[in-house]
Amino acid sequence: MVGDKPWQDVIEAGRLEKNWVTRVEFGRRVIAVYDTPSGIYASLALCNHGGADLCDGYFDGHVIECPLHQGAFDVRDGKAVSAPATRPMKVFETRVENGVVQIRV
Ligand code: FES
Repeated sequence: MVGDKPWQDVIEAGRLEKNWVTRVEFGRRVIAVYDTPSGIYASLALCNHGGADLCDGYFDGHVIECPLHQGAFDVRDGKAVSAPATRPMKVFETRVENGVVQIRV
């Protein structure tokens, strides 16, 4: 990943819904932050198929299912795993620093 983009604070890790997706407003964007058994991941909240809010979808393990047409994405790499979603979603490099979730944007 590009190393020169700064890390930016998104949300305190303690405020994330456990094993679920949490919506975070970040500037003009809405970010979906996913708490999973293998760590924390983040993506744009807007589904690239039809613009639905993925934060209203169903989250299971590492897969977020869109609430509108049930397309699905793997939150670890953004890969589309279920039609009608075909293109990868935008994911962000994510880390937790001093209890705060940070992403590179
Ligand atoms: S808007 Fe998300 S699958 Fe269609």
